[in-house]
Amino acid sequence: MIEADFILRTRTSYDAIAVEYDELARDEMDRKPLDRAMAGAFADLVRGRGPVVDVGCGTGNLTRFLHERGVEVFGVDLSPGMLALAGKTLPDVRFVEGSMLDLPVPDSSVVGVAAWYSTIHIPDELLPQALAEFHRVLAPGGYALLAFQVGEEPLHLTDALGHQIDLLFHRRRAEQMARLLRAAGLPTHARLEREPEDERAPQAFLLARKDVTD
Ligand SMILES: C[S@@+](CC[C@H](N)C(=O)[O-])C[C@H]1O[C@@H](n2cnc3c(N)ncnc32)[C@H](O)[C@@H]1O
Repeated sequence: MIEADFILRTRTSYDAIAVEYDELARDEMDRKPLDRAMAGAFADLVRGRGPVVDVGCGTGNLTRFLHERGVEVFGVDLSPGMLALAGKTLPDVRFVEGSMLDLPVPDSSVVGVAAWYSTIHIPDELLPQALAEFHRVLAPGGYALLAFQVGEEPLHLTDALGHQIDLLFHRRRAEQMARLLRAAGLPTHARLEREPEDERAPQAFLLARKDVTD
């Protein structure tokens, strides 16, 4: 399969920084009560109803948060380096290499899709394809949870955490994402925006829901 350049660059970049990312981000959820509130609400909504996929799970920060709250979660990510560390932390959880543009997940098979700072690496023209994948894999009445940086312009990083990388971070407005989610059949159910803490930009959290009759 021929892969788009940005996919190769994203995978290579995260493979390079996986160890340092894991060290830096490991206690993120503990430090950020508002982020935890949205992720906790998502956990309460999906727990006990069926499997949940953490798309772009990275080293498994959100995966661990959900797993510890009794959610039947598995992870999908582009980067084998990030996935290897996730697997070490959570040996009982299934992690699969794959892309959110073509999820290795059957139709209507999950009750939740989490994309916690992962749609940030999808260019605008392909974002509808990723959201269509979220809709496809979600069972009717299932929830999608998205976290992303708010802004207009993408940020291009060429070095981070002591490594050379080539990563584009697509910042978006919450309203813009809500519009795209609605177009994909995932109307927004709840939204939270907060000011930056240790980040460079404000942060947005959207919880969307696939209609029960969909
Ligand atoms: C900023 S990290 C977030 C990781 C984790 N969700 C967290 O909050 O710590 C972004 C992750 O998204 C993954 N990613 C980027 N594009 C992806 C794609 N098209 N499909 C699957 N994963 C992707 C990267 O490999 C990386 O692990």
